[in-house]
Amino acid sequence: MSRPVLALGLMSGTSMDGIDVALLETDGRGTARPLGGRTFPYPEAFRKRLAAAVRAVTPAAPEARALARELTDRHAEAVEAFLAGRPEGHRRIEVVGFHGHTLRHRPRLGETVQLGCGARLARRLGLPVVSDFRSEDVRRGGQGAPLVPLYHACLLAHRPPPQAVLNLGGIANLTWIGPGGALRAGDVAPCNALLDDWVRRHTGLPFDRDGEVTLRGRADPARVAAVLAHPFFARPPPRSLDRLDFDTDFLTGLDLADGLATAAALVAEATARLLAVLPAPPRRLWLTGGGRRNRGLVRALARRLAVPVAPVEALGRDGDLLEAEAFAYLAVRVCRGLPTSLPETTGVVEPVRGGVLHRPESEGAHAGGPHRLAHGEEGGDRQDQERPGPGPEPGLDGEPEEQPGGE
Ligand SMILES: Nc1ncnc2c1ncn2[C@@H]1O[C@H](COP(=O)(O)OP(=O)(O)OP(=O)(O)O)[C@@H](O)[C@H]1O
Ligand SMILES: [Mg+2]
Repeated sequence: MSRPVLALGLMSGTSMDGIDVALLETDGRGTARPLGGRTFPYPEAFRKRLAAAVRAVTPAAPEARALARELTDRHAEAVEAFLAGRPEGHRRIEVVGFHGHTLRHRPRLGETVQLGCGARLARRLGLPVVSDFRSEDVRRGGQGAPLVPLYHACLLAHRPPPQAVLNLGGIANLTWIGPGGALRAGDVAPCNALLDDWVRRHTGLPFDRDGEVTLRGRADPARVAAVLAHPFFARPPPRSLDRLDFDTDFLTGLDLADGLATAAALVAEATARLLAVLPAPPRRLWLTGGGRRNRGLVRALARRLAVPVAPVEALGRDGDLLEAEAFAYLAVRVCRGLPTSLPETTGVVEPVRGGVLHRPESEGAHAGGPHRLAHGEEGGDRQDQERPGPGPEPGLDGEPEEQPGGE
């Protein structure tokens, strides 16, 4: 079956800015028609708790479980608010792709944990929910990230290759699409995670709006070079980063503007180095993610790179929604037994279909309906959870249903 269906994608990115909701009509292959979306910012108090958990909470801790439930409920509220006021036809959603929020990502230790309870969201919305997109890839030797490249490839399939997409999120990641659908992908460098932390540390503000301050700063190339000496940057793609792998210590001593300009220069230089090890330069580098609004960062990229850069808006796409759309697209792929990652995108041994499908309970569950705690929610009730198609049998890996991630 390959007809396009309506799918909803939900993303809580490493910048911790909020929940992106995007509606997509897609067959999980070559068709993907965006039908709009919205970002629901986290209240500052919740963002702080999330940030503290990412820094210090172990995945099995009670705080992580409580946070996972709250985060899930916030996603449900975001979906309900997004769907209210939409045309009736837009509510015929067949599946929800729920990324959750990454608490830990250490693929080399076999660990990737996304906060979020797929079963709880499925019950609350009365819709099938695919969650835990990364674990299976990591279990099979992959980096578990980035997962957006297949969606980027779908977007650019009609353009003459090679093309590339640079997602300027909390961590920047790049997808290269070559002739015959060849793909390369990997994380580039810490991006908004650094810029935002530096701004917060100096001003208490969440980010440098439009890059006003970044534009005024002067980069310190010696500091950039020192960070780039880290072995991560010498590794060829596929490769991935955790939000905590790098911090702003290398900027200490610089003022606000110079620190931002230096962090931007790091992203530009790391992008240039990654492009240099790809099979051929892309005709264009399409910019997506919130960092494309930072004019200082975009200027640093445009000056450093030999290839032209343009925002994905020039393709008629919304760069604030691409990641959420990607998880809608991937959820449909999961339902159709298609791979969600490839050896070229994550380093996994063979194409892998990640994701766990949670079906809503038939009784009492409907979008916007009252939330009710199901029996076994804290424990091992996996009856409405499955890996669709020929995958590992549900329940055999012994994971509890509602651990903060990995469910
Ligand atoms: N107007 C703006 N000017 C400058 N920077 C902005 C602006 N709007 C958003 N940003 C930056 O974008 C960030 C949010 O970007 P985005 O949502 O793409 O990242 P993310 O949630 O971390 O996603 P990812 O999962 O790709 O890392 C903000 O934290 C901020 O740094
Ligand atoms: Mg975001």
